[in-house]
Amino acid sequence: MEPSFKLDGKIALVTGASRGIGEAIARTLAAYGAHVIVSSRKQDACETIAADIRNNGGKAEAIACHVGEMAQIEAVFAAIEARHGRLDILVNNAATNPYFGHIVDTDLGAFQKTVDVNIRGYFFSCSLGAKLMAKNSGGSIINVASINAVVPGAKQGIYSITKGAIVTMTKAFANECAPMGVRVNALLPGLTDTKFAAALVHDEEMRKPMLSRIALDRVAQPNEMAGAVLYLASDAASYTTGVCLNVDGGFLAG
Ligand SMILES: NC(=O)c1ccc[n+]([C@@H]2O[C@H](COP(=O)([O-])OP(=O)(O)OC[C@H]3O[C@@H](n4cnc5c(N)ncnc54)[C@H](OP(=O)(O)O)[C@@H]3O)[C@@H](O)[C@H]2O)c1
Repeated sequence: MEPSFKLDGKIALVTGASRGIGEAIARTLAAYGAHVIVSSRKQDACETIAADIRNNGGKAEAIACHVGEMAQIEAVFAAIEARHGRLDILVNNAATNPYFGHIVDTDLGAFQKTVDVNIRGYFFSCSLGAKLMAKNSGGSIINVASINAVVPGAKQGIYSITKGAIVTMTKAFANECAPMGVRVNALLPGLTDTKFAAALVHDEEMRKPMLSRIALDRVAQPNEMAGAVLYLASDAASYTTGVCLNVDGGFLAG
């Protein structure tokens, strides 16, 4: 049988989907037939994207969730179960990087915020997502990490550390959730042209050393991350779990 990338009838939650990589992922999953729950901290921003997906013939709704807040994480999964009774695809994409500077000067506030969003948020979303998926026919979780999980970004120490944790988290959940019918994989994006990376992308001095390591010699566009997520979300990846997929223009090959 041909591999299938179709997502018809699937319910997908994408965090951090109001812009950037998350928005591109949400639009792609909807284009392949999923009903997408567009989530970020801002209900209005999510509703704008969800409405545009619907206007283009897709299925989408908006549910706000700050993934640094445990009560909001619990509420979003409860709302999905109440409305749909199932979840098939979870893309943990919303992350934060509040501190840029020498690692030894990281203060407790920035440390805690980064850990709360990027580790605690991803961890409990994986837990609640896997349990909800297991109530039906299982599903697929994709954790958006970063090339900084492998090569720490300069002056982005605590952020890079949390991205490294997401790689280990992905493997741990992949091992233990396989019997529940849940696959868990990670995407490691390279430098991508979004608001998040604006300082790196648009500052000549910052961009130059990054570009010198990127074999394809350019920054990615957000929609160049979406195909990998579509693959990992779909039945085409039915034998793929615990994988960390680099989509980085060759950065980690150098
Ligand atoms: N851009 C890059 O070069 C790059 C490289 C490697 C990895 N990544 C990873 O890719 C992912 C997406 O980044 P991006 O570049 O697309 O960033 P972005 O354009 O700044 O978008 C971030 C998204 O996350 C939401 N968000 C931020 N904090 C949140 C929170 N606490 N709870 C819920 N939603 C939150 C934002 O919406 P609201 O403001 O409405 O909440 C927005 O939708 C992140 O995991 C990032 O680490 C990016």
